[in-house]
Amino acid sequence: MKQINIVKPFLPSIDEVYADFAKCLGTGMVTNGSANVRLFEEKLQEFLHCRNKPLTFCNGEMALFSLIQAVKTKLGYDAHQSFDVLVPSFTFSGTINAIVMNNLRPVFCDVDASLTLDTTRAGDLSGVRLMVVVGAYGNLPDLDAIAAFAQAHNLHVIFDSAPAFASKFRSEYVCNHGFSEIYSFHASKIFNTMEGGLAVTNDDEIQNYLTLIRDFGQYEKVRGNVSIPGLNSKMPEIAAIVGLKNLEKIDYILQKRHENIAKYKAFFNDPRWSQHFSTMLVRNNVQCNYLYFPIVLNEEATAFVAHMQAHNITVRRYYTAVHGLDYYKDKYRSFDLSYTESIKDRIVAIPIHTIMDDGEAEHIFETVAKYFTA
Ligand SMILES: Cc1ncc(COP(=O)(O)O)c(C=O)c1O
Repeated sequence: MKQINIVKPFLPSIDEVYADFAKCLGTGMVTNGSANVRLFEEKLQEFLHCRNKPLTFCNGEMALFSLIQAVKTKLGYDAHQSFDVLVPSFTFSGTINAIVMNNLRPVFCDVDASLTLDTTRAGDLSGVRLMVVVGAYGNLPDLDAIAAFAQAHNLHVIFDSAPAFASKFRSEYVCNHGFSEIYSFHASKIFNTMEGGLAVTNDDEIQNYLTLIRDFGQYEKVRGNVSIPGLNSKMPEIAAIVGLKNLEKIDYILQKRHENIAKYKAFFNDPRWSQHFSTMLVRNNVQCNYLYFPIVLNEEATAFVAHMQAHNITVRRYYTAVHGLDYYKDKYRSFDLSYTESIKDRIVAIPIHTIMDDGEAEHIFETVAKYFTA
């Protein structure tokens, strides 16, 4: 069996993008709100049924950085001022970097068996103004509980839905529940523009700040006068062209994923494995698009990871506990992280692609079974 990589990007052929890209090169309109970027945002608005036009970015981390900056500005803080942000430690470093690079302080909180933020584990929230919820592996927490918690503690909420494009809670996307959120369109994601990101908000003030921030903060072009210090993070035209082609096939992408997810669940949720590993809890009202298929072993994962790699299957020890990474160690406040600590060396992300060649899923299942029944 040839190598099964951790991701297999779903991309259009050169023939599909040739005419649009040739036209874009011919006109010289390659960025700065160019035709396909505008069209892509319109099509994404139709897809997401969101009130405001979603705003494309060069990547998910810059979309998140900009959304945090926009919320911070709305709350009345200037760039050099600070407050605390409740966030799971169990995420990608990019989530926490976007907080810290906004001169804000993460306060690390635990996750539950859904691998998403467990607000019942939060302690003293004095100094906290914002919470960043993460859609790890495309999974979502109970959004009603998040809203109630935020209201009770007077916190603003945003979602880092980088891995969770098209995931739903009670049949609706996160933005349709009134939350501002970002998505990543990186090549590793189920829907991609090679590199790219998106910010979606129903809040007109935040929308206005985001529009400025992604274009240096400029509100006029003659002098380039700025009303806010923004970091350029516009999506280039070629990414939007790829995104438009992929969006035409989104129903097909989701249908294929759901077929593969059903296969994976049938194998990994078999009760015979419960003495060896557990799978991520997905609540009944959540539709999770599974960016990777995480399993939590009952043992430390090094030997299992080596076994999978030896059988040509690339797996990742992903996500991790960011509070333990070199830069973040002992730097910021943490609540009780016992669940995160207990899974961080046992979790393994197994590849699940949109399009899997004949026998690839079966090879993964056989290799897992071989390890646990040897
Ligand atoms: C939770 C989370 N946040 C942020 C990002 C950053 O997205 P991007 O790679 O598009 O910058 C990722 C990327 O994987 C992610 O998983």
